[in-house]
Amino acid sequence: MEKKIEEAKVKIRVYKQKENAIVQIEDNAKGISEKIKDKIFEPYFTTKEEGKGTGIGLYMTKTIIENNMGGKISMKNCNDGACFIISVPLVIKDKNE
Ligand SMILES: Nc1ncnc2c1ncn2[C@@H]1O[C@H](COP(=O)(O)OP(=O)(O)OP(=O)(O)O)[C@@H](O)[C@H]1O
Ligand SMILES: [Mg+2]
Repeated sequence: MEKKIEEAKVKIRVYKQKENAIVQIEDNAKGISEKIKDKIFEPYFTTKEEGKGTGIGLYMTKTIIENNMGGKISMKNCNDGACFIISVPLVIKDKNE
């Protein structure tokens, strides 16, 4: 199911916190229910109708951020939507160091 939001908005904030770059992406699409919150980063998990979503979007996002950028991604509901928080170290440490 996809929701129809009258005045759809996406707010993006980028700022530095200690040694990390933080990117916060917030929308007003009513958020994500507790029931599925833990599954959204799993591959092939989608609530879109058949043929519309692959369920790969957030899985790929998380994989790239964690495995290639040494960062983290989390999600929480805020105000009237979902809020994704990405934290990426400004200096990527070499795995062999
Ligand atoms: N901003 C959001 N607001 C509400 N639900 C969301 C949001 N982002 C993701 N979801 C939920 O998490 C599920 C998984 O998201 P993901 O991006 O991995 O796949 P998808 O969007 O369904 O498919 P695709 O990325 O292939 O279009 C979605 O189907 C939806 O239920
Ligand atoms: Mg998606």
